[in-house]
Amino acid sequence: MHDFLNFTTFFGYDVRTLFPITITRSWHVQLAILWISICWIGASFFIAPLLSPREPANQKFIINIIFALIVLLGVGSMVSIYGGPLGFFENWWWFGHQGWEYVEPGKLWQGLLFVVLALWCVTLYRALKPAIKVGQPWQLPNWLVYSTSSILILLLSGFVATPKTNFVIADFWRWCVIHMWAEAFFEVFTTVLVGYFMVLMGLVSRQAAIRVIYIATLLFLGSGLLGISHNFYWNAKPVATMALGSVFSTLQVIPLILLTLEAWRFQKLPNLVESMLSNGSALSQKFGMPEVFLFLIGVNFWNFFGAGVLGFIINLPLANYYEHGTYLTVNHGHAALMGVYGNLSIATILFCCQLITKERILER
Ligand code: HEM
Repeated sequence: MHDFLNFTTFFGYDVRTLFPITITRSWHVQLAILWISICWIGASFFIAPLLSPREPANQKFIINIIFALIVLLGVGSMVSIYGGPLGFFENWWWFGHQGWEYVEPGKLWQGLLFVVLALWCVTLYRALKPAIKVGQPWQLPNWLVYSTSSILILLLSGFVATPKTNFVIADFWRWCVIHMWAEAFFEVFTTVLVGYFMVLMGLVSRQAAIRVIYIATLLFLGSGLLGISHNFYWNAKPVATMALGSVFSTLQVIPLILLTLEAWRFQKLPNLVESMLSNGSALSQKFGMPEVFLFLIGVNFWNFFGAGVLGFIINLPLANYYEHGTYLTVNHGHAALMGVYGNLSIATILFCCQLITKERILER
């Protein structure tokens, strides 16, 4: 980051030698992905007992193991990203830096991430199992299980590349991790989690949340899966693939606009809530989290602006062909990633902290 900011010396010491840009940039990307995923994992464990009639045995023990593995993963991958480019590890592919943007940490750490995500899915499934009804595959708890499992399955694409893999093949699968996470399954997970929060805060009914999740999933997966080709301008894909990709990725903006219309409707909710609070209605006992609500509105806004508008600007073929790797990508990447998933993570932290502190106050 220091090169971008022209911050190259510190008290006369050349920081570029100690922290080369390759390393700080990779730390930046990986820390962004890690903190967001950790918040989601934590929040899903936190809300699971609120949704399920009983907690399975040994749940706390498994969650503690996951926590320990995440700490190991965080520290290990940061060290590997540092040591790899500086030549600390002989077997850089396993322990160091793989050299692929967004899939930087060595294969060992990538494997550990896979184990953590797999444990997450299993533990969440165990927690939600009592709430899952046989014969009703599209209920809210099921959606949480489907979206987390899909995130896990998509990480498999990140294992394809080896130092000997052809660039075109390796880059294709690398994009499958990035794009399928960011623009397809993370979006579905976000919608499910936001839907759940709205239900738990008493703002929408379960049925309404399920309806929104249905539509969003159809639209995100329908446009997102084929839309991935907007990333393939530079890895030798045929013209027909590019054409298909550009049409479908342009359609990706539609679910975002629909979500924004929904958010516009949500905006009126605080007034409604305020009037209900003053009436002392049942809703007032549940809805005490205007800050959480504010960040959820933020998720919607940045989904529209960061992902939708700034994504759309670089998405049309004429722009897309020339803009790859420019500041336009940086604009879009930051606004979409921090705006949508970052704000969602902050909302989850606030939601959980408020419930924890409220319970403590009640206990006292
Ligand atoms: C919340 C959803 C989204 C997130 C988090 C996200 C994030 C990102 C990130 C981080 C990159 C940069 C990858 C790189 O530097 O190699 C990127 C690239 C790109 N995104 Fe998105 N994106 C989202 C949605 C969208 C949507 C809806 C569109 C289209 C309307 C879009 C169009 C693009 C394009 C065309 C690129 C390629 C730019 C390049 O490689 O230079 N994105 N996205």
